[in-house]
Order: sequence, then C-alpha cells, then structure tokens
Amino acid sequence: MSKPKVFVTRNIPDKGFELIKDFCDVDLWAGDLPPGRADLLQHVRGVDALLCLLTDKIDAEVMDAAGAQLKVISNFAVGFDNIDVNAATARKIPVGNTPDVLTDATADFAFALILSVGRYLMQGARYVRNGQWKTWNPMLYLGVELKGATLGLVGFGRIGKAMARRAIGFDMNVIYFDPNETKPDPDIKATSVDFETLLADSDFISLHTPLTADTHHLIDSESLAKMKPTVVLVNTSRGPVVDLEALYQALKDGRIFGAGLDVTEPEPLPLDHPLFTLDNIIITPHIASASKSARDKMSWIAAKNLIAGLKGEHLPNCVNPQVYQQK
Ligand code: GLV
Repeated sequence: MSKPKVFVTRNIPDKGFELIKDFCDVDLWAGDLPPGRADLLQHVRGVDALLCLLTDKIDAEVMDAAGAQLKVISNFAVGFDNIDVNAATARKIPVGNTPDVLTDATADFAFALILSVGRYLMQGARYVRNGQWKTWNPMLYLGVELKGATLGLVGFGRIGKAMARRAIGFDMNVIYFDPNETKPDPDIKATSVDFETLLADSDFISLHTPLTADTHHLIDSESLAKMKPTVVLVNTSRGPVVDLEALYQALKDGRIFGAGLDVTEPEPLPLDHPLFTLDNIIITPHIASASKSARDKMSWIAAKNLIAGLKGEHLPNCVNPQVYQQK
C-alpha cells in the first residue's frame, strides 16, 4: 500500500522527522527560507497531511489547493495564529500544535531578556570588546534589581505561570492580567489584576498572550504612557502584540527603561527600522523556544499529531477539537 503524502515546509529536528519519514511519503522543502506563496500552493496539491511552521500562512486558499483529501495540519509551534483555524474546522481538518514542551525554554529566555536589558548585559559586553574597559567604575551601567520588584505578566497560561515560578525564586511580586485565567492558582503566589493596574504597578512587564484581534497592538502609545518610566518590557509572544512605532517613541524619549523583543512585526525586522538606532533595546530572532531539548520534543509532538491525523485518530494536541463533534 502506498504511504500517505505529506509536505513538510522546512527541516525540523530528526527526532520527529524520522517518525514522519517512516510513516509517510515526504516532500521536504529544504530551503533555509520558507516556501513562497506560489511554491506553498503548488507543493500542498494532493497531500494528505501538512507539517507547517509559524512562518507559513495557512489559509482557506492553501487548504483548497491541497484538496479534499487533506486530513491534518500539524503546526511546529505552540502558537497557531498563522493558521486560519476556522477555515480548517469548516473543512473538518484537525489542527495540531506543540504545547508544554517549550514552556520552560521560553520562560528561561524571557528572563534572560529581562536580566539582559535590566542589567545592560549587551552594552557591557560591547564595551569590553570595544576596548573601553579601563578600570572598575562605581557609576558604570547601573541597572535595575529584581528582588522586591513587581513582575507584570500579560497572559497567565502555561508560559505565564512558568514565569511566575521563576519570579518567585527571584523574590519578586507577581501580578498578572489574563481575562481567561482569573481564578488564582493555589500553587503560585500571583495576583490577578486589571490591565490598567498591571501597566501602572509593574517594574517589569512580560507578554505571554496569543495573538488575537484583542491582543493586536495591545501595547500601544496609550498603554506605554501608563507604564513606569523605569519599566523593562519583554515580548516573547507574537510581534504584533506590540506597536513598534509607539515603542520606538517611548524608548527614544526615555519614557520606559528598555525593552527586549524576541518577536517583531514584521519578522525579520528590516535593518533600517528606527529601533536599531536605539541602545536600550535587545532584539533577538524569535528563539525563545530554541533549546535543543524543546525543539526535539516539538518535532516529536508535531510528528505524533500528524500521524494521528493520518490514521483518523484524535490528535494528541488539537487546537480545534470541535472537528471531532462534527463527524
Ligand atoms: C513559537 O513562537 C511557538 O509558537 O512555538
């Protein structure tokens, strides 16, 4: 019997890819850059399954180009704003994602950004390399401390909670805003507050919300104006949650202390973007989940979702379980 056909839109770690190769006839897009729209539409034609990345926009047109035999879409990411899930549900196609396994890697990285921005890590390293380090200086790079400071988490899901656990270890106070998670978690000392309070009271703000119509540009000039002038803002969620023009103005005018962005709008951020003229910002290339272990496990889960979908079984991690009620 012939194997099911799958299009894999980029190289992923072997741990999951080997599973997929055993079970499927694989068309792998081996380029370093994602397939362009025309290539995507051409390569999905006739496939039974699609393994895609957050860089691939998977909408109704792609699903229809694939054809009615498309049984599953497996996203190699926990976020799935790149996929039109309603269009998939309307076509009874389950969509899989890769939660949990990247929670700690992402929270570690958000803390790395908090500490790096708050303590001038990049500037200090550059200062040494540039030969500017002449002596110990009591006034050099005086940053902000975590102990006793308030961390405000926008989003209190898996990653938000992992942030709170780390923050408690640093002796921080934790507050969070999450309209879907207002009940306190008895295991985590963190207080639910409204958005305005979070903006006003936080010394550090870290974003851990999915990108939706409600969270698009949630951090704009209005919300930035309500923050403390000493705040460090960190985004490891999705780029469009922050209005970068507004952030540029706030950073340039010294209205906040600094920012760490692992995600931007667009990605990559063009090198002529004004944010690159500022010193009080660190921008990294969407690598918060990039530990070897997390990416291996993501590939494994993505493969398991894909194969389950091909077998007609429930996906271990399905973002639109309504498809099972429709059948
Ligand atoms: C990374 O951003 C992910 O959603 O997995």
